[in-house]
Parts: sequence; C-alpha cells; structure tokens
Amino acid sequence: MSDASLSAPPVKASPFHELEVLWVRHWNDQLFSFGVKRPEDFRFRSGEFVMIGLPGLDGAKPVLRAYSIASPFWAEELEFFSIKVEDGPLTSRLQKIVAGDSVLMGKKPTGTLVLDALTGGERLWLIGTGTGLAPWLSVARDPETYSRFKQVIVCHTVRNVADLAYRDFFSHEIHDDPLIGDEAKAQLTYYPTVTRERFETPGRITDRIKSGDVFADLQLPIGFSPNSDRVMLCGSMAMIKETGELLESYGLKEGSNAEPGDYVLERAFVG
Ligand SMILES: Cc1cc2nc3c(=O)[nH]c(=O)nc-3n(C[C@H](O)[C@H](O)[C@H](O)COP(=O)(O)OP(=O)(O)OC[C@H]3O[C@@H](n4cnc5c(N)ncnc54)[C@H](O)[C@@H]3O)c2cc1C
Ligand SMILES: NC(=O)c1ccc[n+]([C@@H]2O[C@H](COP(=O)([O-])OP(=O)(O)OC[C@H]3O[C@@H](n4cnc5c(N)ncnc54)[C@H](OP(=O)(O)O)[C@@H]3O)[C@@H](O)[C@H]2O)c1
Repeated sequence: MSDASLSAPPVKASPFHELEVLWVRHWNDQLFSFGVKRPEDFRFRSGEFVMIGLPGLDGAKPVLRAYSIASPFWAEELEFFSIKVEDGPLTSRLQKIVAGDSVLMGKKPTGTLVLDALTGGERLWLIGTGTGLAPWLSVARDPETYSRFKQVIVCHTVRNVADLAYRDFFSHEIHDDPLIGDEAKAQLTYYPTVTRERFETPGRITDRIKSGDVFADLQLPIGFSPNSDRVMLCGSMAMIKETGELLESYGLKEGSNAEPGDYVLERAFVG
C-alpha cells in the first residue's frame, strides 16, 4: 500500500440516489408527471416528500427542490407530479426529461401529511390546490387510509379544467387498483373545483366550504366536526392559511408527527 492511499480521505457516500426515469406524462404546458425506479433500500410513509433534482450545469452544485411522492409506500416505482415554471431553476430543465434519463433523489423522506399525524376520525378530507394534489395520490392508495376512515374525500381546486390532472384516475381508474380498488369505490369521493372556467362545481374550495355548497353537494351535515372530520391540506400558502383558520373556527386542532391532531398541512410551493 502506498503512502498516498493510506492518507487518502474516505470516499463520502453520495447524499442522493441517481434514478432512471421510467416514463413521463405531460398533462398540458403547465403540468407533468414522471416515474422513476425505486431504490431497494428507500422507505417512506405515504404522504411524505423528498428532494428531487438534476446535476448542476457546468460543474455547479445540483439543483434540488422538495417534491411530494405521489406513490403509496408499497409501490415498486416512485411517481411525481410537477409544475413547469418557465424560468424555474429546476423545472425549466426537469420538464424536458425523457425515459432513460436520470434524476437525483434525496435519501431522507419527511413530512407531516401522514396518517400518523392525525388522531382517529371518521371522515378524511384531502384538500389540495394545483400540484398540492400529489400527496393525495399517495395517501389515497394506502390501505390504512380506508381501514382508519369510513369516508375519504379528495378535493382538488385548479384554475382551468385542463389542470385537473388525474381526474380520470380519481373518478374511476382507482376503482381497478388491485390493492385498494374495492375500498376506494365504496369509500372515496373525488370533488374537483375550477376557478377560472365554467365547471359544474365552480370556485375555490374555501368559498364552497364557507357557502356550505361542498357539504350540500356531498350530502353531509354543514361544517366540520372535531369528533368526526380529519383534514390534510396541501397547496398554495393562501389556501392553507384560509382553510386552517376555517378549521380552527370549527374547533379542529393542528397536528404534527410529534403530536397528532385533527388536521395537518404542508405548502406545495412558496407563494
Ligand atoms: C414540501 C414541499 C413539497 C413540494 N411538492 C411539490 C410537488 O409535488 N410538485 C411540484 O411541482 N412542486 C412541489 N413543490 C415545489 C417545488 O419544490 C419547486 O418549487 C418546483 O419544483 C419549482 O422549482 P423551480 O426551481 O423550477 O422553481 P422555483 O424557483 O422553486 O419556483 C419559482 C416560483 O414558481 C412558483 N411555483 C413553484 N412550484 C410551484 C408549484 N408546485 N405550484 C405552483 N407554483 C409553483 C412559485 O411562485 C415559486 O416562487 C413542493 C415544495 C415544498 C416546500
Ligand atoms: N395553471 C395555469 O393554468 C397557469 C396559467 C398561467 C400561469 N400559471 C403559473 O403557474 C403558477 C402556479 O399556478 P397554479 O394554478 O398551479 O397555482 P395557484 O395560482 O395557486 O392556483 C391553483 C388554484 O388554487 C386556487 N387558490 C388560490 N388561492 C386560494 C385560496 N386562498 N383558497 C382557495 N383556493 C385558492 C386558485 O384559484 P384562483 O384562480 O381563484 O386564484 C386556483 O384555482 C403560478 O405562478 C402561475 O403564474 C399557471
């Protein structure tokens, strides 16, 4: 052994997995989804997020951003649902990936949009705006969701009808899922709303909660009850803040991993 090899610093393990892109689906010029190979040793809880990125250009540091994992904990591949920001440091490039390319993924998933952060209840509301739908794709495919809650309601508010990604999935495709299909058929309700175009359930979900329309549409008693309703929120800060205040006014308390509660939240982006 030479002196040089004796004094060489130990090789540092990379903090990222480099994962092969398996497929890409473009919903429109604002939104796309992609799937990557799952590393065998990667464990996460449904609803958590992880850092996703690409190597830096010209030797610069990698560009990484937080992404909700849209797959349930048991899935063989990992799915992500992404915005395309024209001049975004990551998504201006990420939107161009094709099958066979590689993306970087952090090794430590984390987050509060997990069943563990909620106390018992009867009805689970999963309320998201824009790409804030991503964690619900995970939670709604987790069998524990259906054993813990009698009813699961996925609310998705977007600007335009074309932004209702996964509409077919939540409307009927999920009913064919071999693991949770029967439960989803019996217990899951999909409730999309559209704010800037004509639609059968128009307007922001917050406004439809305040007006009572969402409860009337779903034939539920008006308002949220701390005894039966549990809520997860993901999307724009404005929606989260407004809905959080509404829930507090009904007596629901925010939960966390350390102290489970009646509702949990996570912003899906800064803005
Ligand atoms: C906990 C967490 C989870 C997230 N999960 C997702 C996810 O599953 N899918 C996803 O697309 N993004 C998600 N994001 C946002 C993501 O981290 C990046 O901001 C996004 O990928 C854009 O990166 P960028 O470098 O291109 O632009 P950035 O410089 O990060 O963003 C530029 C601007 O674009 C807008 N913007 C960024 N992301 C979004 C978005 N998702 N929806 C609407 N406007 C946005 C904001 O105004 C932001 O200031 C999450 C963020 C957090 C904090
Ligand atoms: N999606 C598009 O068609 C589109 C088009 C052009 C540009 N962009 C750019 O893409 C970025 C993200 O757009 P996005 O549409 O994904 O996200 P977004 O602007 O957060 O809007 C998503 C949905 O959330 C609703 N919302 C906003 N504040 C709310 C609140 N307080 N309570 C309840 N609902 C609320 C919006 O309703 P309102 O419509 O009432 O605000 C909209 O329906 C933006 O920076 C935007 O400039 C998007």
